[in-house]
Amino acid sequence: MSVEQLPRTIWWEDGSVHMIDQTRLPLQGDVLVCSTYEGVIVAIKTLAVRGAPAIGAAGALGVALWTHTTAAEFDQLDGDYLAAAQVVCDEIAYARPTAVNLPREANRLRAIIEEQVACGELTPVQLSELLVTEAHKVMEEDEAANRKLGAYGAELFDSPTKFLTHCNAGSLATSFYGTALGVIYATHEQGKVEHVWIDETRPVNQGSRLTAWELLFAGVPAQLICDNMAAFVMGEGLVDAVVVGADRVCANGDAANKIGTYGLAILAKEHGIPFYIAAPSTTFDLSLATGREIEIEVRDSEEIEGVTVSGTFDASSPAVSAAFDKMTADGPADLPMSKGHHMQIVRKGGGFAFDAWFKTTPTHVSCFNPAFDVTPAKYITGYITERGVLQADDIAEVMQ
Ligand code: MRU
Repeated sequence: MSVEQLPRTIWWEDGSVHMIDQTRLPLQGDVLVCSTYEGVIVAIKTLAVRGAPAIGAAGALGVALWTHTTAAEFDQLDGDYLAAAQVVCDEIAYARPTAVNLPREANRLRAIIEEQVACGELTPVQLSELLVTEAHKVMEEDEAANRKLGAYGAELFDSPTKFLTHCNAGSLATSFYGTALGVIYATHEQGKVEHVWIDETRPVNQGSRLTAWELLFAGVPAQLICDNMAAFVMGEGLVDAVVVGADRVCANGDAANKIGTYGLAILAKEHGIPFYIAAPSTTFDLSLATGREIEIEVRDSEEIEGVTVSGTFDASSPAVSAAFDKMTADGPADLPMSKGHHMQIVRKGGGFAFDAWFKTTPTHVSCFNPAFDVTPAKYITGYITERGVLQADDIAEVMQ
């Protein structure tokens, strides 16, 4: 068991974007195939692909996919082509607002489109090949950065270290290897990880579904806790360091990450525990002076009003099978349910799969669901990057 055996998060295959569907992990290892750029946008918005560097890769592949699928519609790279491409790049770049990696990588490919339209030497097919290659470079650079920052991070810790992490800043959140979990994997490879506390990370449970799955897979000793147990384990002396990822780090070092990170940083300070942000240079945004300028994504209240359950089932008898067959003959079937719950059934292989949502709150309760918060730089012990372990004061110079 090793991190190296984890599946790739997202890849290009047969003219489509393939990804592990993270909404279904850990119960199912479905691969989602997007054959249109709109499909990639849906995957980003619904968190089938998530985590700052991974949505950056999805953004790059999404732009490349549009150029691939539309190459036959355009005779040449002209003003019409550019106008259409700009609309697509904007749609992709701003599909989610908080992680800077998404606009960064979509705009990296946009810049190539602009350049090639201006010089007019390539055909639309040749441009699409160039962009697929560039999207691969985005992913290769991300993996290399994560491995490097992991190695820098491992130097910080002596044996045996007890970590706490929040959300999933693992291989699944990146092209491969991970940021916060990259540090933990590299430290584990050196035999220096005693324990990892995994915050469950309500409401979407990236910790309990994804980080727990990754660490089990990689053979790292870990235990799951609810988010509200972090203070207890810190108070008991069971945490030596907190390491989390980031979605955007500003020029002054303020860092946006999954909701709940800010509270953890305050808890760590109170308990005298170092609090590290692990992030590649692509997550730093020097155009924003402070975290006040970061747009925080507010997601649908359904995420906190209930729980989502996905699974598969085999029909128990030919009669049941025939009934489900009939129900799903025209595609996914919505099953009527009481009390606001809902369930959809689809055919899957020889059996059936379901996605269900069960309401756990009173019908008309009002919810507020910010997906990220900003941890002020004063709570951050250091930034573990592929350019070294930085202090807030180093960021402006090192991340230029
Ligand atoms: O909403 P998500 O799951 O995309 O949020 C992900 C996080 O907040 C991660 O910690 C962050 O993107 C770093 S991923 C290396």
